[in-house]
Amino acid sequence: MHALDRRLETALTLATEAGAMAMRLRPEPGSTQAKLKGAQDWVTEADGAVERFLSDRLLQAFPEDGFQGEEDGIGRTGTLRWVVDPIDGTSNYARGGNRFCVSLGLMEGRSPLAGVIVAPAIGETFAARRGGGATLNGIRIRAADTTALPRATVEIGWSGRRSDADFLALCTRIRGSGAALRMGGSGALGLAEVAAGRQDAYAELHINLWDVAAALAILTEAGASVSDFTAGHGCSEGDAILACAPGIAGAMTALF
Ligand code: IPD
Repeated sequence: MHALDRRLETALTLATEAGAMAMRLRPEPGSTQAKLKGAQDWVTEADGAVERFLSDRLLQAFPEDGFQGEEDGIGRTGTLRWVVDPIDGTSNYARGGNRFCVSLGLMEGRSPLAGVIVAPAIGETFAARRGGGATLNGIRIRAADTTALPRATVEIGWSGRRSDADFLALCTRIRGSGAALRMGGSGALGLAEVAAGRQDAYAELHINLWDVAAALAILTEAGASVSDFTAGHGCSEGDAILACAPGIAGAMTALF
């Protein structure tokens, strides 16, 4: 089996197991278990436990590969590197919500090679590997054919890493174009839904590599247009991201 196919298959198995673990550990609605890492930046017991599980199991399966996780940073280096967000959408998860996922990306230097995003509470698994197409629950997905912003639905992501003034100005510009706005609290799932054609764009002024590593491979394979997140300092410090249905990429880039 091709080395990349073998890794994608293992990633699918491990992300599914990690998703089941996250379901077992999910706080009840109303729970006060979650802690704040920063302003509106949540972490739960499951974030660390799921990341350790994935790190250990990937080390067993591919001892030569590197590993970088949201919670513990760069743990191992290697030509190929797994970039993991154990729970993306922690603000939803911490309150017993359904919109969260395990995100497992595989990169070679700055190039995304493969990605798996498992959203266990809604029974959805997005996956892709370079040159192999993108799927949702095993069925091929494509970005939408939308060409006009007044018919478009755009998700915007928020983080405290950029000013509220800049965030609100971006919301105003997007609404001014006639596009509908939404915000779902999981960057990885927001991007995956652009790949699946369920929404037309995802825009965020600053997001980290672990939130987007898996989605970058999925978006590219689904024919979406994606800003070059890894060209500058995206891999080390995070960056802005814009992913779009190709027919609105020009208009959205001008707005962004
Ligand atoms: C966050 C979510 C959120 C996005 C933030 C991320 P986390 O990740 O993806 O939607 O807007 O930029 O930090 O904390 O849930 O892993």
